[in-house]
Amino acid sequence: MDWRIRPSPPLSGQCQVPGDKSISHRALLFLALSQQGGRVTGLLESEDCLRTLAALRRLGASIDQLGPGDYQLAGWPDQGLVSPDEPLDMGNSGTGMRLLTGVLAGAGISATLSGDASLCRRPMGRVVNPLRMMGAAISADEGKPPLNIGAHPGLHGIDYVLPVASAQVKSALMLAGLFAEGETRLTEPGPSRDHSERMLNGLGAQVDVVSGRLVVQPGRPRGGDVAVPGDLSSAAFALAAAAARPGAQLRVEAVGVNPTRYGILRLLERMGARLQIENRREIGGEPVADINVEGAVLKAIRVGAEDVVLAVDEIPALLIAAAQAEGRTEIHGATELRVKESDRLAAMAEGLERLGLAVTTREDGLSVVGGRIQPAVVRSWGDHRIAMSLAMLAASAEAGEGVVIEDVANVATSFPEFPAHCRALGMNLEQSG
Ligand code: S3P
Repeated sequence: MDWRIRPSPPLSGQCQVPGDKSISHRALLFLALSQQGGRVTGLLESEDCLRTLAALRRLGASIDQLGPGDYQLAGWPDQGLVSPDEPLDMGNSGTGMRLLTGVLAGAGISATLSGDASLCRRPMGRVVNPLRMMGAAISADEGKPPLNIGAHPGLHGIDYVLPVASAQVKSALMLAGLFAEGETRLTEPGPSRDHSERMLNGLGAQVDVVSGRLVVQPGRPRGGDVAVPGDLSSAAFALAAAAARPGAQLRVEAVGVNPTRYGILRLLERMGARLQIENRREIGGEPVADINVEGAVLKAIRVGAEDVVLAVDEIPALLIAAAQAEGRTEIHGATELRVKESDRLAAMAEGLERLGLAVTTREDGLSVVGGRIQPAVVRSWGDHRIAMSLAMLAASAEAGEGVVIEDVANVATSFPEFPAHCRALGMNLEQSG
């Protein structure tokens, strides 16, 4: 499936974005392992989250749909989860695979976890190695999926320093820690999203930060209800595109603004974006707000490793703004982007170059000089966030035949309604194939 995007007016209008992907995975997993279960509303019904839901059902979790995005989970079955006789296919989802590995290793359930070609290239040693230190039996060829998880006599807590700041690794170990004997203590080299800590505590587990370390007490959470806020990572594409284009006027409502996730807003502000964050409130223990943006001429910035950790999924979206800003934007300390759904540094560098921009790449980042967007055919590399970033940028192209973005089906993993979202904000987007 491809998109053709013709030159479009600056974005204008107001919108909401679908539920947060990270929080949706967690709601399903945490309620499935809880004692009493609970209800989740606003769940993101994208391919990634539906893979996690299907895997949980295959393991014996009882999950009833009450309405769109609205599910009742019964909690841990009396007989426990059952070992599936076929591999669980986690599709494209790193979050689904890594977090479920923590649950299965904790519960001592044998299972094989596999996924699509992109997921099978992604590093799993970062989860498998510490889980083995806790006593789990997991094998993985060269640290890549498929993962074979075996039964074991029981896990014990560890005191572990994560080699990379990763919420997926941290969460997998926290989940295993709920089933372990003794405390699990985790230290991260930098901040990563804290949705697991917030939700687990909200559901009655005991997870505390003590002297900079995360301390997880064993014991499955009681359960409760979870409301999922809008996904800032999905809002980021339109926010960056509107911020960088004079004449744009955009309002995104009820979107998550967790401080461990809102790096993109701070980076856009540093570029001179006119953002206004209002109606701050809480939904399901997560800070939420409405965000207004008025387009302006932005200026280039230097982004460092300390910025990247708080915007790890939003660097492609930031490049929408950088590609239209005055001067050279430099991204450093972003090697983690090379092991996401695609090598996002290489994918964005290629796309920006084809759109006529001057790009320089390094192992840990890239630089781009803002300029005019030329008509071109660009590739998504099968990565949802690359497709959506290039689409937003394409809307600012010079007059002409427009930009074709190839291979966009993967957008359904996080934002199935993206084409309709773009059209509602005035973009000229046609889908084909
Ligand atoms: C996620 C954490 C991030 C992010 C991913 C979702 C999560 O990965 O890139 O899209 O839900 O925990 P890392 O924590 O591995 O960087």
